[in-house]
Amino acid sequence: MEKIVSLCKRRGFVWQGSEIYGGVGAVWHFGPLGVEMKNAIKRHWWATFVLRREDVVGIEGAVIMHPKVWEASGHLEKFVDWLIECKHCHARHRVDHILTPEEYKIDEKKSEISAHIKRQIKCPSCGEELDLDFIAKAKPFNLMFKTYLGPVEDRASLTYLRPETAQSMFTDFKLVLESSRQKVPFGIAQIGKSFRNEITTGDFFFRAREFEIAEIEYFVKPESVEKGADEKAFDEWFKLWKKFYTDLGIDEKKLREYEHPKKLLAHYSKRTVDIEYEFPFGWSELAGVANRTDYDLKRHMEFSGRDLHYFDEEIKEKFIPYVIEPTLGVERVMLAVIVDGYSESDGSDGREKGEVVMHLHPTIAPVQVGCFPLVKKDKLPEIAKKIYKGLSEKRIRAYYDESGSIGRRYRRQDEVGTPWCVTVDFESLKDDSVTVRDRDTLKQERVKIKELNDYFFSKLNLS
Ligand code: GAP
Repeated sequence: MEKIVSLCKRRGFVWQGSEIYGGVGAVWHFGPLGVEMKNAIKRHWWATFVLRREDVVGIEGAVIMHPKVWEASGHLEKFVDWLIECKHCHARHRVDHILTPEEYKIDEKKSEISAHIKRQIKCPSCGEELDLDFIAKAKPFNLMFKTYLGPVEDRASLTYLRPETAQSMFTDFKLVLESSRQKVPFGIAQIGKSFRNEITTGDFFFRAREFEIAEIEYFVKPESVEKGADEKAFDEWFKLWKKFYTDLGIDEKKLREYEHPKKLLAHYSKRTVDIEYEFPFGWSELAGVANRTDYDLKRHMEFSGRDLHYFDEEIKEKFIPYVIEPTLGVERVMLAVIVDGYSESDGSDGREKGEVVMHLHPTIAPVQVGCFPLVKKDKLPEIAKKIYKGLSEKRIRAYYDESGSIGRRYRRQDEVGTPWCVTVDFESLKDDSVTVRDRDTLKQERVKIKELNDYFFSKLNLS
């Protein structure tokens, strides 16, 4: 992991936010390569689940919503982590990170916790024992960031930065329905910034306080109208969600499913299954699919006084749809593909031992084609620059480099996951062709300069 952290900083993928001031905990900035990659992931997600589907439309809701939204959604009351404070070092820890689900019980009504522990529990920070008394003093801590609307900082102007994008898809359910003329089953998709004042941080940018969620609220007939429609949609979305990762080349053996135990389900969920990836720091959540039933729409009807029923023309019946919610963190996709794609050569593939290659899928690689002149003379740079411009104009992410030996330039691109490099050499002056080198096979092939756009278009499945 240390090598990946250092590569990401050195090559301009990711670094700590406000670094010159010592940094802000769990807040990250994306550099020139990182932002290209993140944008490519988002575009790919949008194309897969919105543009290529007739039954899904997108919206872009705001980060700041009416404070009542968070009351209705249950976040104000229930979006909490239970924290204990170590009496020795005063570090705060999440109860669910220290105890197993069997070892404690939360009484939400009384806002208290009881624990049954048959082992010694030590503070992860100082190593001193945490006794039962201290666990009983655990307090709920709401993860939403507070802010104020307007100049007066009082209760009436208090609101929150959204901790998930989902809620605007529920509040706008009727507006989307009326403007897009969709019929149940259909989905609303959104990608957007979300904010959580996370207690446990670390593991690079895996758990951040500001991050982007890409999620869909897929509305289906409720159990009372069509039994099993929700379960069927759940299974279908789960398969598609997993396929999104394997299509990006993630090793299937490093993915597993985690079914949330009933006791630990989020307040809105009937069923949640996560997709986990085996990171160097352990199996951790990449994405999830939840069955939110009619919880959210019902709550917003209750709190707003608006009618959010759906009228089904075919069966001439009015109902509140159930919702299947596939969700994922954009940065976690990025971290997983970087970790999964990172490799160091053992020397048997034609590279020198220890050389780093990042096997990123061409769709999301920050640079798709490196363009080099073999040497900096005899018109080779002009030809290479022209190729670079031609590819860039066709919206292929190209990069021009003429500094250092050709071997070094290949290594620099291998390290950031560039799938192909084009080299203009002396032969090019005679045959109007260039060498295209493939990052994974190291095969080199001659391609006519005028055919390069089509060549990469077909490799990238573009038209
Ligand atoms: N609307 C449902 C929802 O927000 P979630 O599991 O709490 O569900 C969605 O979050 C996804 O966002 C997760 O699967 C995870 O990939 C990502 N995520 C959650 N918390 C995160 C954090 N602190 N930093 C980065 N990504 C996070």
